[in-house]
Amino acid sequence: MPPKRYLVTAALPYANGPLHFGHIAGCYLPADCYSRFLRQNGEDVFFVSGSDEYGVAITLSAEQAGRSPKEHVDHFHAINKAFFETLKISFDHYSRTTIDIHTKTAQEFFTTLLNNGWVEEQMSDQLYSEADGRFLADRYVEGTCPKCGFDKARGDECTSCGASYEATDLKNPKSKLTGAPLNTKATKHWFLRFDKFKDQLIQWIQDKPWKANVKSFAKHYIDELKPRAITRDSNWGIPVPLDHAEGKVLYVWFDAPIGYISMTKEWDENRWSDFWQNSDTQLTHFVGKDNIPFHAIFFPAMLMGMDQNYKLVDDLPANEFLQYEGKQFSKSAGHTIDLERFFKQFTPDQIRYVLAANAPETQDADFSWDDFQTRCNSELVGKFGNFANRSLVFIQRKLDAVIPAHGDLTPDDQDFLDRCRELKEQIHAAYSGYSLRKATQLIMELAQIGNIYFDHKKPWKDLEGAKTTLYCCLQCLQDLAIAAAPIIPTSAGKLWALLGYATPLTTWNHDPILAGQPLPTPEILFAKVEDDQIQAAK
Ligand code: 2FM
Ligand code: ZN
Repeated sequence: MPPKRYLVTAALPYANGPLHFGHIAGCYLPADCYSRFLRQNGEDVFFVSGSDEYGVAITLSAEQAGRSPKEHVDHFHAINKAFFETLKISFDHYSRTTIDIHTKTAQEFFTTLLNNGWVEEQMSDQLYSEADGRFLADRYVEGTCPKCGFDKARGDECTSCGASYEATDLKNPKSKLTGAPLNTKATKHWFLRFDKFKDQLIQWIQDKPWKANVKSFAKHYIDELKPRAITRDSNWGIPVPLDHAEGKVLYVWFDAPIGYISMTKEWDENRWSDFWQNSDTQLTHFVGKDNIPFHAIFFPAMLMGMDQNYKLVDDLPANEFLQYEGKQFSKSAGHTIDLERFFKQFTPDQIRYVLAANAPETQDADFSWDDFQTRCNSELVGKFGNFANRSLVFIQRKLDAVIPAHGDLTPDDQDFLDRCRELKEQIHAAYSGYSLRKATQLIMELAQIGNIYFDHKKPWKDLEGAKTTLYCCLQCLQDLAIAAAPIIPTSAGKLWALLGYATPLTTWNHDPILAGQPLPTPEILFAKVEDDQIQAAK
């Protein structure tokens, strides 16, 4: 039975800095194209994401920026939300984890899991700063490596010898921020018994149609499952909803995925449960590969433990990473792209197209300026734009700016139309299978068979025969607009209007192009990217 509705989530980005280019390519753009594709097919879709606003990643970066955590997340939530709008990411709802309904929902999860017997209290030793009067998380700590003696070892691993350990094993542990010495002190925390879900998870994961690497990674994690602390000592986070738990908050990786649910509640308090507590829903989590364990194991186990018929993830199209000119993006080494500037210099569709064509689906992929320029110029302008422009200009100049009726179709014409239909079906399959790379290749193939057909038919030599040729070209252009809309929505919408439609492009299946329809004056769909623009952008 096909699903009755689709729940699409994109990993909640930390509101501690501007969005990362690689995350756009690996997570937000694929999730957006998939949601747009589903909507075009008439499906009931809810596409959600929002800012991840708690945790050490936030407090540390806020302290470094001289802001309170709240000021810090307010600042970056606004920046990232606006950025998604510029990129035309079509969330049905983009929210944040500091909303009241999220506090309430995450606390209910904690309480229910505790009452259901999955959460246990345990004492453990942690590093404590007498000077600051607080326990310090690993990222706030440095000291001497217990293995090799390196004196600037991090709280959880040594960057010199690669050893990983508990922060309490460090020699001479110090606060990274103030240099104050730290000692160990016993503290109470609540542990979720993930180990008890092992059999249930093994059973459940068996028939998941995930990519082989995602599945084997997840299985490996299941083998190693241990109880994990779901609380932290901090004053920034969702309070543990128990008496005598002052200074204890929920661990950010416990509350964040629950955010998908809270944000759905915020969007529609009546419909949230149709989406989340219903086996008719298909749930797809778009994440980068670093987030696989949380979405494939920990969150599903939490949902199982709730025992409230929660929908568990069906598809997990976890992507690899995007590199930049052959190396990892690195903000600290200055090897990065300033997204704000990038978006001022190029259109969202140029960027979306090139990122989709290079989506890091099966292996790490690379973004390079040469490739960006070539794809914009040879593919968008040279193939897609050229085919649209020459067809529309021909009709404008030679066929009275009206879509011609076709005469008898020759085998050439029929073959061309058949091939267009087949390619459109293949593009449908590529989107359904989360492959944007494949979809972009097929879209360009569709544009290119249009150019070849036009050249072959030479409509300028026989104006009567040209009517059939141009009718077929416009049918191909209609297919192209429809098939490209999830990736380049603005240009596809523009082409749609140039084909004479007064209402927006919203469907995948559409009646054939309408003979007799007057056409507006053609416009160029894609701008050429000049060398000096690339030099300025680098
Ligand atoms: O890795 C990250 O950027 C996390 N903020 C992702 C959270 S995804 C979800 F579980 F909320
Ligand atoms: Zn070491």
